[in-house]
Amino acid sequence: MKTLNVNIDHVATIREARGGKEPDPVNAALIAELAGASGIVCHLREDRRHIHDRDVKILREVIQTKLDLEMAAHEEIINIALNIKPDLVTIVPEGRMELTTEGGLDVAGNPELFKSLVNRMHDKGIEVSFFVEPEQKQIDASLKAGADMVELHTGTYANASDKNSLSNELYRIKKSSTLAHNAGLKVAAGHGINYINIKPLCLIPEIIEFSIGHSLISRAIHVGIERATREMIDVINTSTLHRGLNK
Ligand code: PXP
Repeated sequence: MKTLNVNIDHVATIREARGGKEPDPVNAALIAELAGASGIVCHLREDRRHIHDRDVKILREVIQTKLDLEMAAHEEIINIALNIKPDLVTIVPEGRMELTTEGGLDVAGNPELFKSLVNRMHDKGIEVSFFVEPEQKQIDASLKAGADMVELHTGTYANASDKNSLSNELYRIKKSSTLAHNAGLKVAAGHGINYINIKPLCLIPEIIEFSIGHSLISRAIHVGIERATREMIDVINTSTLHRGLNK
């Protein structure tokens, strides 16, 4: 069976727009868990643009499924992960100016760094996934580094603008899923996955986990706005009624 891990970064992005306390990504995570999510994902970026250290600490305390901490291989963040001990860390490349993670990690380009990172995480009982392009070179390197899992970058597939590139990308994902699975790695998929483009990915047997944020949080706004509006009108009506002002 394939499972869903919900990425709550965008809830924190809305919180940061006002710099206050709401919406709290921890609250969103608990609701997602109750709705059946198999795990919660958050990305603690070096610039702390959305998720903060406090969020990860509280999530570690309250999450009952699985906490997947997305992070770059930066020493400060590595130490935070070793301390907080998420169930899984997903190692991603991180660029200061990027809007979101752009492309997969070059594990093959620095095998020693990533091998030592895996060893440090394993010493604390933390599983490691590398977010990589669907390419043999990166899968081989992830295996050599001792990873438990690879998360295949589906962003290029999600952005494919014509049928040819879409089927090429899907083929790369299928082929890489088989390669990784046969090598003994668990296989996840993430980035740009939505309610439409997920369907062909669901037919790839080796993918066991999806990591989804943007489309799901976007959908939450649409399906929640009617109720939120009604609740505010109820508050207005009941509050004015109590004071006898609702003439
Ligand atoms: N997986 C990884 C490694 C990511 O960096 C992201 C984006 O934070 C996601 C999955 C989720 O992508 P999206 O928000 O497009 O669903």
